[in-house]
Amino acid sequence: MAESTIEEFYDFDNKLIADALKLRFYPFAAESGEACRLRDVEGKEYLDFTAGWALANTGYSHPHVKQAVIEQLNRTTFASLISGMHEPALRLAEKLIELVPGDFRKKVWFGLCGSDASETVGRLLPLATGKRRMVSFIGGYHGSTAASMTMSAHAAQTQFIGGGHVVKVPYANPYRCPFGDDVGDCAEVAIRFLEDYIFKTICPPDDVAAVIVEAVQSDGGDVVPPRNFLPMLEDVCRRHDIYLVVDDVKIGMGRTGEMFSFQHGNVTPDAVILGKSLGGGLPLSAVVARQEILDVGPALALFTASGNALSCTAALATIEAIEQDGLVENARQVGAYLHNKLRALQDKHRLVGDVRGLGMIQGVELVKDRDTKEPASTEAAKVVYRAFELGLLVFYVGMFSNVLEITPPLILTEAEADEGVAMLDQALSDVEAGKVSDEAIARYAGW
Ligand SMILES: Cc1ncc(COP(=O)(O)O)c(C=O)c1O
Repeated sequence: MAESTIEEFYDFDNKLIADALKLRFYPFAAESGEACRLRDVEGKEYLDFTAGWALANTGYSHPHVKQAVIEQLNRTTFASLISGMHEPALRLAEKLIELVPGDFRKKVWFGLCGSDASETVGRLLPLATGKRRMVSFIGGYHGSTAASMTMSAHAAQTQFIGGGHVVKVPYANPYRCPFGDDVGDCAEVAIRFLEDYIFKTICPPDDVAAVIVEAVQSDGGDVVPPRNFLPMLEDVCRRHDIYLVVDDVKIGMGRTGEMFSFQHGNVTPDAVILGKSLGGGLPLSAVVARQEILDVGPALALFTASGNALSCTAALATIEAIEQDGLVENARQVGAYLHNKLRALQDKHRLVGDVRGLGMIQGVELVKDRDTKEPASTEAAKVVYRAFELGLLVFYVGMFSNVLEITPPLILTEAEADEGVAMLDQALSDVEAGKVSDEAIARYAGW
């Protein structure tokens, strides 16, 4: 295998790896990675505007994280948390409780991925409150286990059976307001719809345990709601005695230019879900929540390798790197720079309908026509494919599969932002000029 070409990798992959776990946009086979760059098995180098689905916040092979993991490996390869204790988990829990805002008694639950953390919240909340229902948002993505999918309402997930107790309501999308473009403040209308219609018809608020929300809907299309959306949602929750849960799996840990995304709205969730970048590349998720939610009973959400010492050590080192290297500040500053550069693409390319983002999560929505906003989905697939050929890794997301998602490592420099945007610029020009054929993307199903 060591000497294999990309095409040979593709054939092995086709034969050996389940399609059910594939979300492929182009034939990339990683060999090594450092900082913001990945190298493939043929030695070609790529600038990574994905961070592997917003996971590599500190970049690839961060020396501090690497060193900490090696030292922990030398102590032991595994230590159980569910039937024992170890220092890395205790230190990490203490650190997360200190970092997550909320002037109340908090605890931490550990898991292995964002999906198990969302699922655990969904399992514990009815027990803790005696209420059966939840509210979530259309376009939300909370995971890929059965229960986390019941909370999600992404087109990729609504095909599965179950989940009647989770009521889905419209998210405040300023570019495509579900209530129409002429309703004024989309956030206000969305919140009024929840309170004046949903709560009075199919979902009595006194049977709602929690509302779960992303502060920026990422897989749903990198939708940044108006600034008043989260505070208004928090206000509704408080008035009806409903818990507010923020899913910060994808954009927490500094990505938006605050340590946690909801700090932009100045709200205080009762539970925060973390994952992806938390473990610095190793599998780890966490729920940081009010004690009464997480202490509802023993042995209710057990995964054998949850909170393993290696992942917790990597997480502690990742947080240290974020703090010591000023990565939250870098995400804010370079993110703003990147945003302006992407905005300039909108002036140049008719395909670009909207550019939005917060810090190091940016979305470029492609449309066939700026007036009708008809989604340019095939074009999005072609742009990410062409960018890949040029040496840039980027994915697309969104309910119409037409939003280029840009989530680089938080260590990105302005020079790297320029380099990546130049490749996107070229890719957009090539697609607009019809230089990327349908056949070129035919074997990558995307989503
Ligand atoms: C907001 C959000 N929550 C939860 C998840 C699920 O995380 P995982 O895929 O690690 O299970 C994702 C994954 O994309 C996500 O974006």
